[in-house]
Amino acid sequence: MKTLAIIGAQWGDEGKGKITDLLSEKCDVVVRYQGGNNAGHTIIVDGKKIVLHLIPSGILHPHCASVIGHGVVFEPEAFQKELQNVADAGIKVTSENLKISENATIITSYNKLLDAARESQGSVKIGTTGKGIGPAYEDKVGRRAVKLKDLFDLENLKKKLARNLGEKEILFKHRYNIDFPSIEEEAARLFELGKKVQPFVCDTFSFLDKAVQANKKILFEGAQGILLDVDYGTYPFVTSSSTSLGGIYTGAGIPESSVQEVLAITKAYTTRVGEGPFPTELFDEVGEKIQTIGKEFGATTGRKRRCGWLDLPLLKYSVKASNLTSIALTKLDILCFVDELKVCVAYEYEGKQIDCAYPGIDLYKAKPVYKTLKPFKDDFTNKTDKDLSPELNAYIKEIETFLGIPVGILAFGPERKEILFRK
Ligand code: GTP
Repeated sequence: MKTLAIIGAQWGDEGKGKITDLLSEKCDVVVRYQGGNNAGHTIIVDGKKIVLHLIPSGILHPHCASVIGHGVVFEPEAFQKELQNVADAGIKVTSENLKISENATIITSYNKLLDAARESQGSVKIGTTGKGIGPAYEDKVGRRAVKLKDLFDLENLKKKLARNLGEKEILFKHRYNIDFPSIEEEAARLFELGKKVQPFVCDTFSFLDKAVQANKKILFEGAQGILLDVDYGTYPFVTSSSTSLGGIYTGAGIPESSVQEVLAITKAYTTRVGEGPFPTELFDEVGEKIQTIGKEFGATTGRKRRCGWLDLPLLKYSVKASNLTSIALTKLDILCFVDELKVCVAYEYEGKQIDCAYPGIDLYKAKPVYKTLKPFKDDFTNKTDKDLSPELNAYIKEIETFLGIPVGILAFGPERKEILFRK
């Protein structure tokens, strides 16, 4: 296998966790390059559920080095808990198999408080996970972030925190009327947490540079999805990082030529959690059925996900935005339960039909044009890709023809083994 990026092609929650886990088995290095503990990869190994929010899925394979790159926003307390969960599952974590960039941005208590206050009291509700991700990225761009390497010197940390708190103090006191920890308290907390992280902290740029030079197999593990990218996504209902292909170059710090394949994880239907436009959203019993049978609740927040038909114009945009080279189609088992099957093949938009969701268009005004297909009722157990029903083959063909890239992987259940590789 070549060096590979795994990216969600929709609004996240496409089932990246299982496929990343499966493919990381064949890799030397697995890298997280954006986002924070707002991601929620669920992996089921031998019936045991492991949810990874921050630590790359490579951690489940002893031969694999897992890297958290400098584009990630890092919450040390959440990390400590996750480290404990991973250890409780019998996985050994050392400075050899986990490496965290010294330049990762810290999510401070101030970031979390601001996020929560805005979501509960602010004028525009984005539907964030409330974990301080957005405010931490704002601080990074605003040059007032605390970096991981700042945690190891208490006096320096206090100075950095004073800058980090900055104007937020006025908001906490006068706009939101909430309590917040003093700089002394926050510094003491982060300094203690820093001691737990320190063994894993290193210069991940040089580590990855050496891995690239040595032709190691590297897997870049995306979180969320392209349509949530801060630049390419459905702004402002996006996450604060670069979830698309470009995020790898800035967030991991590797040359462009190092990514040879881009695998798009795509749910066989569409879901979205939180606010924002969603042209193919279903408000009927079919949508409810998909939501219930598909257990469409956020892994991080437990919120109900909105559900709808597969949206090919949106996917065409994702293919262009991230140079996607193939598709892994997940949750096909859920669509087996519906007795009608539709796929969106165009939008009616301002009197015209368009087949790609370019960013300039207002998705709230895009009216989906559907093609109706015969529903498929495949039983995937012990089957090969030669045994797929004509109805499912027709669905896959529709997707491949429209997007111009192959569907290489089919997933039909949460377990590691519930997957088919197409020849
Ligand atoms: P984010 O990075 O937060 O966007 O999430 P993700 O893409 O990593 O999603 P995750 O791997 O957590 O998958 C979402 C849920 O779908 C989990 O509960 C998985 O166990 C489940 N899942 C993944 N693939 C399949 C599938 O093919 N069928 C079914 N029924 N469930 C699946």
